[in-house]
Amino acid sequence: MVYQNRTYLDYNATAPILDEVLEEIRTGAWPMGNPSSVHTCGKKAKRKMGEVKSYLYDLFQLGEREYELFFHSGATEGINSLIKSKAFESFEKNRHFVFLYALSDHSCVVNQIDYIQSLGLKSHALAVDHHGQIQWEQIADVLEGMNLDQTDILLNWTWVNNETGVVNSLDQLSLIKEKFPVMIHVDAVQSIGKIREFNQLNSIADAYTFSAHKFGALKGIGFSFVKPHFMKALMNGGGQQDKLRSGTENTWGIFSIQTALEVMKERYQFDEQNEAKLYIEERLRQLIGDKGHIAGEGAPQRNGNTLYFILNDIKAQTVSMALDMGGMDVSNGSACSSGAVIPSRVLMAMGYSEDQAISAIRLSFSAFFKKEEAIELWPRLESVLKRFVS
Ligand SMILES: Cc1ncc(COP(=O)(O)O)c(C=O)c1O
Repeated sequence: MVYQNRTYLDYNATAPILDEVLEEIRTGAWPMGNPSSVHTCGKKAKRKMGEVKSYLYDLFQLGEREYELFFHSGATEGINSLIKSKAFESFEKNRHFVFLYALSDHSCVVNQIDYIQSLGLKSHALAVDHHGQIQWEQIADVLEGMNLDQTDILLNWTWVNNETGVVNSLDQLSLIKEKFPVMIHVDAVQSIGKIREFNQLNSIADAYTFSAHKFGALKGIGFSFVKPHFMKALMNGGGQQDKLRSGTENTWGIFSIQTALEVMKERYQFDEQNEAKLYIEERLRQLIGDKGHIAGEGAPQRNGNTLYFILNDIKAQTVSMALDMGGMDVSNGSACSSGAVIPSRVLMAMGYSEDQAISAIRLSFSAFFKKEEAIELWPRLESVLKRFVS
């Protein structure tokens, strides 16, 4: 939690690179060749890349025949590749296409709608309830009115929301698939080191996307599992990765994924993390009283690391600056790329007012957050936050 003399509380934005990964880089243990080269250095890199792929199939309990696996620069690229490819395929075949997504999805999902519209195809935003949960009945309402024989439907399902930490269980996917012929992509970016069942994927979804910088591997690398022939490549070129994603592979990024996941598999303890989070949450709730709210607290399932709270009538920027001066790095909930704080789209989708949606602070803790650390942290948080609630 303490990183370069800062108390880092923004693990949903990115995680520090794990020591185990840094150590492998420091020792230069990994092969450096281009996996496409036929000499020994190239072959070593190719072999190691194959080992990482086998490890990922094993860890996530998916069959190599059921899913293809490709690496990309991160979830934004993976999600763009998948959604654009499916939309373009329907466009080429002159079929109707509807993209279903939740209003609370990440901007790299929501911002696909312009491209979809430019092809003359349709998107539909699904509302979420006050707790941030996607309503399965709502999906049914939308789909029941459609001519499903002539329409390709792609649903994005965000497993764990990046702002609230609310979990939309993968169990619901089978209900949807049983009733409707939809293709499903799961945005699994915020699952690793945040929920107990992070490696329990099922074979119901057509695709899953992960991003490595969220769990302590290197930045600029991610991976997606996709059902065979599900996707056409967005990047064309030398035909690497079975033509799914051309371009020389980011091998050290890929190798770092296995190292980081081995650490997560061995050391991540959901109950310990959740207990530490709840320690802070209970004290925060008492401190805020009726002057604010913890978003998503009524959801049936939340992750173990995220605490998203609103302080009524106080701009998040003011609070986050005060915490920053106290040595603590937190997130303003929703900031645009220029850094300006704008009302959180996710909170507004959950029914909060614009004023509340610009007053939210997100604390997101490490995968290895412990109660002893929470006990030490609370007085520091309290000493800053009490100024805003008294
Ligand atoms: C839920 C979710 N999806 C997608 C992304 C995009 O990931 P990346 O930073 O790897 O492009 C993020 C990043 O915050 C996210 O939280």
